[in-house]
Amino acid sequence: MRIGILTGGGDSPGCNAAIRAVVRRGIYGGHVTVGFEDGWLGVMEGRARELSHNDVSRILFIGGTMLGTSRTNPFKIDGGVEKCAASLKDWRIDALITIGGDDTNGVAHRLAQHGIKAVGIPQTIDNDIPGTDYSLGFDSAVNIVMGAIDRLHTTAESHHRVLVVEIMGRDAGWLALFGGISGGADAILTPETKFDIDRVVEIIRKRHSIGKRSSIVAVAEGAAPIEGMQVTQSAEIDAFGHKRLGGVGEWVAGEIQKRSGFETRTVILGHLQRGGSASAFDRILASRFGVKAVEMCEASEFDRMVAIQGMNITSVPLAEAIGTTRLVPPDLVRDADFLK
Ligand code: F6P
Repeated sequence: MRIGILTGGGDSPGCNAAIRAVVRRGIYGGHVTVGFEDGWLGVMEGRARELSHNDVSRILFIGGTMLGTSRTNPFKIDGGVEKCAASLKDWRIDALITIGGDDTNGVAHRLAQHGIKAVGIPQTIDNDIPGTDYSLGFDSAVNIVMGAIDRLHTTAESHHRVLVVEIMGRDAGWLALFGGISGGADAILTPETKFDIDRVVEIIRKRHSIGKRSSIVAVAEGAAPIEGMQVTQSAEIDAFGHKRLGGVGEWVAGEIQKRSGFETRTVILGHLQRGGSASAFDRILASRFGVKAVEMCEASEFDRMVAIQGMNITSVPLAEAIGTTRLVPPDLVRDADFLK
């Protein structure tokens, strides 16, 4: 077979490990892997190259994606779908593996109606894709958030400050919650439930009353106060209808300082969370996902996404994996509440 591969949407550590696994498992099965550049944009423009064993050497530990990525939606571009179909035909692609989140794999699902055979690999630091316990990149990002909070504790303690850490995660608080718990944040605010700023201030006051002189508040970029809305950086909307979030940390910090009088600072982790090498967990997950994706191509199991459920690598229909956000279950949030 000639198997096409692309990475789309926000990158994350682990993409390269997945590409490597697809190429190597492909060679084992006698297939040729064709890497499309910059997600769906590269497919539309026919920008691709065949990937050899050597092309994927020593990329396991390199962050980002060797293929490049974009947030291109062919369904929003005149003739986009036809261009994708023509390019895949020109490159004689029998099956396509798409590595990305809801948007990238959503395009793959819609293209199935146009005869394109695809298998999705879930990849986003947001970890919000239904059908899989983990998406690629999440664990690496959790480790970055944890490391950042570890460092913030010492400076917060030295200066007797409250530090508010703004963490990525549009509609689901997985990264804020897991990063916050592992880093020992004192309050964690997620998009799932609107937060009460008075309660946050109360938590910090209580800590001071037992002798603590610093606190860390982890806030997801998509979290919103009960009296308001998600904070956006601009009115700009991308090809998939997403707003650019950012700024809630600054708002939370301002309110804490105003209401409590404690000196407060904000740290926005931003794209640091998507950089650097993948964790061991993500490298293993990517490798298993890559092998499974090629095996699904061989078995003609298309319009599906590979997934991990418990320890098992399995697959789910793409239709079930797109269009909705997998939110953090309330019992996980409740556990974090006991640790304040
Ligand atoms: O979808 C992953 C994500 O990292 C979100 O957490 C974040 O809101 C968004 O991407 C940022 O996108 P961009 O890289 O386009 O600024």
